[in-house]
Amino acid sequence: MQTKEVILTGLRANNDLHLGNYLGALLPIVKMQKKYAGEFQINLFVPDLHSFTTPIDHTKLYEQTMHNLKLYVASGLDLNNNDTFLYRQSFIPAHSELTVILNNFSYMGELSRMTQFKEKKTNQENVSAGLFDYPVLMAADILLYGAKYVPVGDDQTQHVELARDIGIRFNNKFGKEIFKVPEDEKTQLAFTHEQQRPRIKDLLRPEKKMSKSDASGKGVIFLGDTPEVATKKIMSSTTDSVGKINYDQKNQPGISNLIDIYSLLSGIPVSEIVDKYKAETSYNTFKTEVARNVSNFLADFQKNLNAVDQDSLNKKLAESEKAMNEVANSKLHEVQKAVGLRG
Ligand code: TYM
Repeated sequence: MQTKEVILTGLRANNDLHLGNYLGALLPIVKMQKKYAGEFQINLFVPDLHSFTTPIDHTKLYEQTMHNLKLYVASGLDLNNNDTFLYRQSFIPAHSELTVILNNFSYMGELSRMTQFKEKKTNQENVSAGLFDYPVLMAADILLYGAKYVPVGDDQTQHVELARDIGIRFNNKFGKEIFKVPEDEKTQLAFTHEQQRPRIKDLLRPEKKMSKSDASGKGVIFLGDTPEVATKKIMSSTTDSVGKINYDQKNQPGISNLIDIYSLLSGIPVSEIVDKYKAETSYNTFKTEVARNVSNFLADFQKNLNAVDQDSLNKKLAESEKAMNEVANSKLHEVQKAVGLRG
């Protein structure tokens, strides 16, 4: 059974992953795996049941799921770490059953207020119940393993907080700590020494987040983009007419986004980057430097991807899914007893 505190995150497989996914979730958890080796348990999974809360091509889902698992490894995830578990959500049926149970302790009002739901429902003719219920499934993903820290991008913070609320409500209702709930947002940020969760913007429309569902893909750097394609996208990214490199998300969102990308990829603090480029009067030199960093990152990443050993990955998956089924079933059993489904 689990003896260590858990750090957990998941990335949907509805499309290829992009730089926002990498900087918002993959890089942070891979860094944590290294930093806290031996101290924390790491759960990294593909929430495949979440992948069609908005319409997708179902003939590609399984392949995309298997591909994304390789992307996790290419990001530097160490498969030999015995405290790390890599799995697919739908291979652990307890996620689905816990969702059905938690639905009865989640409110229509709070689910309707979720920003992601409000945004995503506007682009669709028929809004599925799955889209509405998506944060409850996400709460089940987190609560089954009692995850303490959940590294996600800024757009998912609200869902992590909802998971905490649902867990606390359930514990209060049944008068005992059935669920260990994730830490509150302030404590999560203190753990990662961040002011805010990462939020990478679309390169052409920097007022919007970089998103898998962007149809044209021109403002999105996919992890499969060639360095040449990525360079073109960065060089033609939207900036402004100020002509100075300031970190000002409100008035210079394009340049601030490029600073964020550069800073997160290189590890150089934002203030140092701004200082280094303060004398520049055009954006060209800076954009070229960002493009160089992104290209080098992609070249290394793709080299790692080609080197992923499928057999080791399959072995890790099988072992992890077996182990996590045991953990999840045991927690589910506690829940079933609490609600009166088991004696
Ligand atoms: P998803 O698949 O949309 O995104 C995966 C991760 O990438 C982050 N992300 C970003 N970070 C910074 N800038 C961006 N532009 C950007 N775009 C996406 C997301 O915040 C996320 O961390 N519901 C989740 C998946 C999920 C999950 C979970 C996460 C399901 N169950 C349990 C954590 C714990 C989702 O749809 O993320």
